Amino acid sequence: EKELYITYKGVRISTQLCTEESLAYFEDFSFRPDDFLIVTYPKSGTTWMQEIVPLIQQEGDPASVQSRPNWERSPWLEYVQAPSLNLEQRPSPRLFTTHYPYSMLPPSFFKARPKVIYVMRNPKDVLTSLYHFNRMCCFEPDPESMKQFVKTFLDGKETYGSWFDHVKGWLDAEEKERIFYISYEEMIMDLNSAVTRISKFMGKSLGPEVIEKIVGQSRFTSMKKNNMSNYSLVPKGIFDFDKSEFLRKGITGDWKNHLTVAESELFDSVYKDKMQNVTYKFVWD
Ligand code: PPS
Repeated sequence: EKELYITYKGVRISTQLCTEESLAYFEDFSFRPDDFLIVTYPKSGTTWMQEIVPLIQQEGDPASVQSRPNWERSPWLEYVQAPSLNLEQRPSPRLFTTHYPYSMLPPSFFKARPKVIYVMRNPKDVLTSLYHFNRMCCFEPDPESMKQFVKTFLDGKETYGSWFDHVKGWLDAEEKERIFYISYEEMIMDLNSAVTRISKFMGKSLGPEVIEKIVGQSRFTSMKKNNMSNYSLVPKGIFDFDKSEFLRKGITGDWKNHLTVAESELFDSVYKDKMQNVTYKFVWD
């Protein structure tokens, strides 16, 4: 039987999502300076950003998110589909996604210097979202218990490695002027302001009506209805939506319904230790 994971560049990668071929494809990929790359640790707001950015690029035209699924409109460069999508032929400005830590990016990323939108989320909510994702995703083993899952997460043993390393690596990235940092919590608090700031970073000046249109289209309730974004189009046998939905709750602080006081305190102590030198002001602090 095929192993579920491999260790690639020191990080755990799912063999169900990535193949040797797709990893090699990303390694040799040629970025352009005007590409946009959405980067996240899983469950931090990837799908949300894959809705917002195409809408900004197409100035609010709903067709930008209703004509093809998110994995085609903003493909993960490390995933098995990437080599067959003819990305070299796509017109600029292209849009891609990756879950890679900074240290894993291929040479062309550092040469061509595409623009990056890096989305972060309260790691306790990341953990909670991932816990439910692993339950509903048929190729991920069910978490034994929340207690065990907290430990695995804090040990950095989940797919794409440690949340702490991921966030610290991207916050420490060189050439920060080409990286836009935003948190899931800021998007929840004021989506209008988030969309405005993202569009400015992308060099698009959009009027208030267009911004409002984008906000409306990228709200949780709208995205849940959009079959091109709610993952209802994935082939049968991959997700079990009876166990949990992909667009599950879409709120901040759901960890409070899942972590015990002891688990939360353990989390806090590891967080404090690992993040002690980080000066970035997170909105969830
Ligand atoms: S993945 O697998 O890494 O691509 O997952 P990702 O998209 O990063 O994270 C999924 C969580 O994001 C929530 N989500 C949203 N929240 C609020 N508003 C909008 N529009 C939205 N779109 C996606 C989604 O519900 C998952 O979080 P949880 O906490 O599980 O609900």
